[in-house]
Amino acid sequence: MKIGVFDSGAGGLTVAKSLIEQPLSKEIIYYGDTARVPYGTKDSNTIIRYALEAIEFFNNFDIDLLITACNTVSAYALPSMREKAKYPIYGVIEPGIWALNKKLSNKDAKILIIATRATINSARYQDELKELGYKNINAIQTGMLVPIVEEGILEGRVLEEMLHYYFKDIKTPDAIILGCTHFPLISKAIKSYFNNNPILIHSGEAIVEYLHNKNYKSLENTPTINIYASDNVQGLREIANKWL
Ligand code: DGL
Repeated sequence: MKIGVFDSGAGGLTVAKSLIEQPLSKEIIYYGDTARVPYGTKDSNTIIRYALEAIEFFNNFDIDLLITACNTVSAYALPSMREKAKYPIYGVIEPGIWALNKKLSNKDAKILIIATRATINSARYQDELKELGYKNINAIQTGMLVPIVEEGILEGRVLEEMLHYYFKDIKTPDAIILGCTHFPLISKAIKSYFNNNPILIHSGEAIVEYLHNKNYKSLENTPTINIYASDNVQGLREIANKWL
């Protein structure tokens, strides 16, 4: 099996990493739209247009399944993408909610969603959680964490200041949905800000578990990953060497 992974840029490598650690395919084709990242500040029409162009990119490869690692794309573009593609497409929002629901049975639990402006404004996470009966949902836009991670700042004062800026008025949640591809890379700092108490939901781990549940079988061997980008592919490959 060949799995395509699409993201607005480098962040989706956190999802690719889970697919490498718990292989479901022999091959991964990763495409990051590095020329146009970030998507999280764009409006829905633009996000859908870019996502449909990614489908055209994947037409060059004979993929069996496409994973949209980007939460922002998952929030807006899946129905339009599915109309254009011959293979199944999964986003990361539904798997994230599914994973949370398995871990957190108390519907009064305090849930914090952190994501880009576009993902939060779509209310996809919030609406699906409400539908499942969760009552204490707090959703905040934390888009400035994206460039910080892209700068390779994964710990230390700058990151801690930024976390304080976003979290200072927030009571320790029971669970945090890392609703953005980049945030697993700073999950240690996020968890430690709240004294290591909250459960964290990571899109990559969630999608692998979700696909297992849909009967996609685990493989023994580590898959090969081929990385493509709309700009500076060499730069993305270097980031992949660091992150994967
Ligand atoms: N990949 C995006 C997401 O998960 C974050 C970066 C961006 O804004 O494009 O929402």
